[in-house]
Amino acid sequence: MTMKPPAMLELDGVHAVYGKKIRALKGVSLEVRAGEVVALIGNNGAGKTTIMKTVAGLLQPEKGVVRFQGRDLPGMPPDQIMRMGLSLVPEGRRIFPRLTVMENLEMGAYSRREKDLSREYDHVFHLFPVLGKRRQQFGGTLSGGEQQMLAMGRALMAAPKLLMLDEPSMGLAPVVVDKIFEIIELINKEGVTVFLVEQNAKRALRASSRAYVLETGEIVAAADSAALMRDPAVQKAYLGLH
Ligand SMILES: Nc1ncnc2c1ncn2[C@@H]1O[C@H](COP(=O)(O)OP(=O)(O)OP(=O)(O)O)[C@@H](O)[C@H]1O
Ligand SMILES: [Mg+2]
Repeated sequence: MTMKPPAMLELDGVHAVYGKKIRALKGVSLEVRAGEVVALIGNNGAGKTTIMKTVAGLLQPEKGVVRFQGRDLPGMPPDQIMRMGLSLVPEGRRIFPRLTVMENLEMGAYSRREKDLSREYDHVFHLFPVLGKRRQQFGGTLSGGEQQMLAMGRALMAAPKLLMLDEPSMGLAPVVVDKIFEIIELINKEGVTVFLVEQNAKRALRASSRAYVLETGEIVAAADSAALMRDPAVQKAYLGLH
């Protein structure tokens, strides 16, 4: 019998609502184990961002279990969750346009107690040399790809164990998307677990080992990414085949 390693992140029966009427998540269960790249795919409005927000502490679940490294997250403030080692690169990047690259990165480390962040800066500039060359440039004047890199760099400043990315490829040219996914792979090889949300199902399935398919607030499929890529229903609905 092989022992499954315990989940790093675990969601069990999670429900989330906006106001009284909009049921965005209807009993979502999933897990991400240490070292994995796990993808979550689904169409517009499926609830992908809602899952990310619920995990990051930006939205409280109506009910259900959300656990990170064995600790229950609901009720914890977002900065405490970040200090536990969980960072989110939000949908639409959300960088600070009027702050410089350096200041944006500094914001990513606000939850840290360490004073010396030179290792983190070196790491970010090693992964994203372009940011190193543009330290004093305002975030808002960076290209879309550079802004995505800055958002990822900012999340890495918190030295996460689990990096969650919400639609990193959105609005970017294919060559830039290639670059972003190369870096995601690199970050994972360095030991960071990755949980990735994408509408770009092909990229997400290629980059991950396991994946979940979300439809209107419910997980409708969960399997190895390679198996999902061969699944006719997934091909038809998400990969533009047939
Ligand atoms: N702040 C909000 N108030 C009310 N309804 C919301 C809010 N945010 C999201 N919703 C609704 O919840 C559902 C899930 O939205 P969510 O943003 O999680 O989807 P998504 O899968 O991330 O979509 P997309 O691919 O377009 O980013 C949608 O029906 C959306 O309209
Ligand atoms: Mg979204």
